[in-house]
Amino acid sequence: MNTPAILKRRPTYQAARWNEPVIMEMGAPGRRGIHFPPADPDADSLVPPAARRATPPALPELSEPEVFRHYLKLSQMTLGMTGISLFGTCTMKYHSPAAEQAALRPEMQELHPYQHESTLQGALEIIHSLDLILRELSGMDQFVFQAGGGADAAYMNVCVTRGYLAARGELGQRDEIITSIQSHPCSPATAAAGGFKVITLTLDEKGYPSLEQLKAALSPRTAALMINNPDDMGIYNPEIKEWVRLVHEAGALCFYDHANFNGVMGKIRARELGFDSCMFMLHKTFGAPKGGGGPAVGAYGVREHLIPFLPGPIVAKENGAYTLKTGAQSVGKVREFWGNVPQVMKAYAWARAMGAEGIREASDLSVLANNYMDTRLKRIEGLEMSNPHINAWRMEMTRWGLGPLKEQTGVGTFDVQNRMTDYGIDAYWTSHEPWVVPEPFTPEAGEMYGKEDIDAWVDVLAQVCEEARQDPEFVKSAPHNGAVGKLDVSTMDDPAKWATTWRAFKRKWGGA
Ligand SMILES: Cc1ncc(COP(=O)(O)O)c(C=O)c1O
Repeated sequence: MNTPAILKRRPTYQAARWNEPVIMEMGAPGRRGIHFPPADPDADSLVPPAARRATPPALPELSEPEVFRHYLKLSQMTLGMTGISLFGTCTMKYHSPAAEQAALRPEMQELHPYQHESTLQGALEIIHSLDLILRELSGMDQFVFQAGGGADAAYMNVCVTRGYLAARGELGQRDEIITSIQSHPCSPATAAAGGFKVITLTLDEKGYPSLEQLKAALSPRTAALMINNPDDMGIYNPEIKEWVRLVHEAGALCFYDHANFNGVMGKIRARELGFDSCMFMLHKTFGAPKGGGGPAVGAYGVREHLIPFLPGPIVAKENGAYTLKTGAQSVGKVREFWGNVPQVMKAYAWARAMGAEGIREASDLSVLANNYMDTRLKRIEGLEMSNPHINAWRMEMTRWGLGPLKEQTGVGTFDVQNRMTDYGIDAYWTSHEPWVVPEPFTPEAGEMYGKEDIDAWVDVLAQVCEEARQDPEFVKSAPHNGAVGKLDVSTMDDPAKWATTWRAFKRKWGGA
């Protein structure tokens, strides 16, 4: 029998299953992987008595082959980021081994931020050069890389807004920050954390954030607008310039959460749209990895009038040398030292390897890939596109929903996500809260995945929807091919049951 092409494309997968203990339960006293030279007898005197251990730490003692075997088995069991990973809004894209090598060089790894500037010139040059590249891409006048992620950069923006308002004698009077329901929740969350009242605008009847609501919300109390565009549905707001104009007319600042930059790189700039500040995520758009939750960098850029309030130190070039500076009105640090510098190195390597043309082309490819995928997804029963009446191309990603499938079969988005991993497809991203689309999922191919991978991904989704109609319980009890089956996640919200360390596990669960 001829295998239909669609079946040939569908991946198959079976994770290894080892009954591997945790490393804390392995080994035996005295076993060694490496013999260290005896400690310098004078070393004791260098450590203050109060900081010295009375007893050695309770660490497992293993031989080198045991350690090697243990981690090899764990790597075989992990579902890992090794499948087709269309992890929308986080753009899990290519990060090159060459960039990784550059970041691992001793000239980068062995630096300490407290070294004298004169011995840090190479690292400072890299930081300054990436700053210049991002200025070119955004039109901003200065970038800093201290924030440990996108949400951290949004918080940095709230701190800078406070500093700016204080300098103008308006802090307290301007106490409201406006955002939209389809912005990332870090905008309202960081605004609230910074002491502002949050106004969240909903959508108009066309499906865009409501301009009329914005006009009604603006007042002498408005401190800032914090918004993303394209938003998390992949929709570009065609009236964004008018939004910025109105906010400025009301005397407030405009922050551009430009995390969803992948589809508009080299096409639009925050400056020309009128924004005062913007944020890019190096771990999202610039080829630095974010797997496993970090390390990450939120690159935060501002126009000239906000530079004095930036957290320090800022890397500047003076008389041919690089130097670190902190402005007198700086809002202080949001994070220790200078942030995750090796990530800056990787982003710089990525940007230089791509070049201006490559970056523009990546934008085109990511929009093309997404719209190709949308065309295929529209044909699958049980799916519904967010804001389907908006008759415009989506940008680099689209939020979809499995609401109809759930109604027909009881199978929801987490069930489908779990079952897709049985085919060696990485779990997709669902949605940030609030779920404005029922049973959401947000695939994003970026520029990295070709047509074959996208087809395989869509085929697997179509297959799982069909399985849901045939045998919903089978999909609901997935994954079946992973190292472990469906997990009971009911303890995840209960601090009395969390155990993030071995000691906490033994205390809370009695080592059971
Ligand atoms: C639009 C947008 N803004 C902000 C963030 C927050 O970034 P991070 O997870 O690095 O804190 C994200 C994360 O995916 C995002 O998609």
